[in-house]
Amino acid sequence: MEAPDPQKRPRGGAAEVQMCQAIFPSHANDRGELSAGQLLKWIDATACLAAEKHAGVSCVTASMDDIQFEETARVGQIINIKAKVIRAFKTSMEIGIKVIVQDRVTRIQKLITVAFSTFVAKPVGEEKVCLKPVTILTEQDQVEHDLASERRKVRLQQGDTYQSLMRDSSKFDDVICDQDDDAVSTGDTWVQSIELVLPPHANHHGNTFGGQIMAWMETVANISASRLCGSHSILKSVDMFKFWGPSTVGDRLVFNAIVNNTFQNWVEVGVRVEAYNCDEWSKGQGRHINSAFLIYYAVDDNGEFIVFPRVKPISKDDIRRYHGAIVRKRIRLGRKYVIPHKEDIPLGIQWDASKQTYLSHSNVDALKALAAKSGWEVTSAVGEVKMYTLEESDSLSLWVEKDVKSPANLAFGLLSDLMKRPQWDPHYSSCKVIDWVSNDDTIYYITCPKINTSKPIDLVVLVSRRRPDKDSNTYVVAMKSVTLASIPPSPQYNRSEITSAGFLIEAVDSSSCTVSYLNQISSGILPYFAGDIGGWSKSIEETATSCIQFIEATSNGFINK
Ligand code: COA
Ligand code: ADP
Repeated sequence: MEAPDPQKRPRGGAAEVQMCQAIFPSHANDRGELSAGQLLKWIDATACLAAEKHAGVSCVTASMDDIQFEETARVGQIINIKAKVIRAFKTSMEIGIKVIVQDRVTRIQKLITVAFSTFVAKPVGEEKVCLKPVTILTEQDQVEHDLASERRKVRLQQGDTYQSLMRDSSKFDDVICDQDDDAVSTGDTWVQSIELVLPPHANHHGNTFGGQIMAWMETVANISASRLCGSHSILKSVDMFKFWGPSTVGDRLVFNAIVNNTFQNWVEVGVRVEAYNCDEWSKGQGRHINSAFLIYYAVDDNGEFIVFPRVKPISKDDIRRYHGAIVRKRIRLGRKYVIPHKEDIPLGIQWDASKQTYLSHSNVDALKALAAKSGWEVTSAVGEVKMYTLEESDSLSLWVEKDVKSPANLAFGLLSDLMKRPQWDPHYSSCKVIDWVSNDDTIYYITCPKINTSKPIDLVVLVSRRRPDKDSNTYVVAMKSVTLASIPPSPQYNRSEITSAGFLIEAVDSSSCTVSYLNQISSGILPYFAGDIGGWSKSIEETATSCIQFIEATSNGFINK
């Protein structure tokens, strides 16, 4: 590629655009809900106009990051879409999009989604445009600007991450349910559809709007999901995807959709789009222009989630896609931190010595309750270390399990002393005791190194320990953030919070135990885990291995004394 000439940078004002739309029946499905395809069209059009405002030339959609829908909008309500160029790279720009729905009567506003898409400046002809940088006016602009480059890295290495995780996919415990009599053959969910691209579907250069293609894809994917649940399905999210190549007026677009896999209450449908011009059509040789993976759920008349039947992949392709859906789920979880759309609500409880017993019990109970939740799914299994994740509507939790050749009580002694943690955990820079509250409870102040964040983080945590009692044979080391007036947040650190984390240690025999590390991840500490969950870092496995070595070496020392 020829280097773009900085002299050719176009000039322009602040690239922010708003679209406001009233939802009419023609925009909605048979239940009066705004169709996801229509919303994707509006989102893409608004983002494109923001991109073109910055670039000063026409732009095309290159890709759209993961997009999650938090609310359903209905006929009669108002949709407001704001799109803003967050960062310009060379020829591409990241656009941030926020979608709000407002009720006309109550005037209550709700967030539908925050999304990020990438547009490439594509003037007519072959010339490349070098985009001017975005003007940064506020501290928030700077934060978003920095995060944009993180998101770009993840975006551009998405294909490699997927390929490398697919190579490991044989290690997943999730066995294909060919024994399940109720499982539905994936072939039963296959849908094919065709569209002819007409002038209203394209921009003034004749390029098909990305949003129009997304809307058509959503229609076929929705039909495919509904075939499986026998009910109306609702779009929950769309996985990051890329427009591989352009399509223009006159193209025939062929859409093929099929269910790839079902999880607890949701299903992944994949759609592949091929474009044919007149000549290609007669020869049967299409151009692959896009593939997307859409997640659906369904509810019954009482608003309860419908559990989708498991699918039975039959062909080699079905089986590959079945594993592909598990890999994509993992990548999606990991990417959540680069798409921060939820404010972190302060979680730490005010420390009050008079409520010490209550706070200690609730700390331990929260960790046990987290472990007892259903829905933990294996995410990776490398060597002796197994990692599980639990995705709930508003939180993501992690469980790392490992076998350790050490008596359980010795492992408990070592793990319950947080001052020892910097010896084996590179995520800890320092740790000091603030208050020896009792034999079972200690308050610590922890600092952590800077990882993908503007500043390093610090934490104030209550650690509560329990030896096995008559009801259980599990040792517990529970951690939860508390706030202390004597340790206010400082300007050098981002004060982060632990919702619930810690260790559960169970004896296997007199000389070995299973150590489980659990963490219900708040967004402040998600950057420390995201790479591992998403599969582009192995720091959790490395930390777990270092933890095993530390416990085994130290307890060997004790035993041999
Ligand atoms: N996500 C985000 N950005 C991407 C990307 C992706 N998946 N793939 C490429 N890009 C970016 C590159 O990083 C580069 O950015 P930079 O110039 O700021 O560094 C820019 O796109 C151009 O990349 P390059 O490698 O030169 O071009 P390419 O041959 O990969 O083409 C497109 C990229 C998007 C222009 C090309 O794939 C295309 O035309 N797609 C169809 C677009 C379209 O018509 N959309 C509407 C619906 S059909
Ligand atoms: P992959 O097959 O590796 O997932 P593709 O880009 O070929 O990648 O396809 C994307 C998705 O589109 C598939 O996962 C599948 O869900 C769906 N799909 C592809 N080809 C077909 C087809 N011939 N019939 C039905 N669905 C298809």
